[in-house]
Amino acid sequence: MRVVVSLMAVAAGAVLLSGCGKKQETAEQPASPNEPASAPAVPAGPTHEQAEALVATLPAPYNTGDIEKGRLTFGQCRACHTPEQGGPNMTGPNLWGVFGRKAASIQGFNYSDGLKASGITWDAAQIDKWITDPRAIVPDTRMSFLGLKNPQDRINVVAYLKTVTTAPQ
Ligand code: HEC
Repeated sequence: MRVVVSLMAVAAGAVLLSGCGKKQETAEQPASPNEPASAPAVPAGPTHEQAEALVATLPAPYNTGDIEKGRLTFGQCRACHTPEQGGPNMTGPNLWGVFGRKAASIQGFNYSDGLKASGITWDAAQIDKWITDPRAIVPDTRMSFLGLKNPQDRINVVAYLKTVTTAPQ
């Protein structure tokens, strides 16, 4: 009986852990009086509530995006991009503040002529189109990425991207 009970406890723990974006779940647990709400183990990134609030500012259907699934899919983008404030440019430019930013506006980054001339200002729908097939938007783009063919994957990535490139309100 004991074994069964402890197994159930483990299972319950696993369910809790898979609940809602690994890094943010401390926000939902009662804070211990000795620990500040944002423990140093999580240096950057919004709380779960802040992330949800940021996604809610997006137009439909992006406001329905699944942040955790988007985080996983964004792993493909992380090969070339940092999203965090002050993050370095890599193969691709840093994406902090990308919502509302003019395309090709990071000083010193070696953008393609096509992206520089595109006249795009990034918003949820433009980013969605871009990551569907960058070459369809800018034929000489330097972003060698085939694109995400599944619309739901793109919605999730756009939602996640919003939460990590925008200061919480
Ligand atoms: C193989 C590397 C690579 C991957 C993977 C990649 N990118 Fe890029 N990205 C780039 C490069 C390089 C540019 C600059 C493109 C140009 O100058 O034409 C860029 C540009 C961008 C821009 C425009 C930035 C600006 O400052 O105008 C956005 C937005 C973007 N990428 C989002 C994404 C997202 C989201 C993903 C994942 C779904 C992704 N990228 C995957 C390399 C990459």
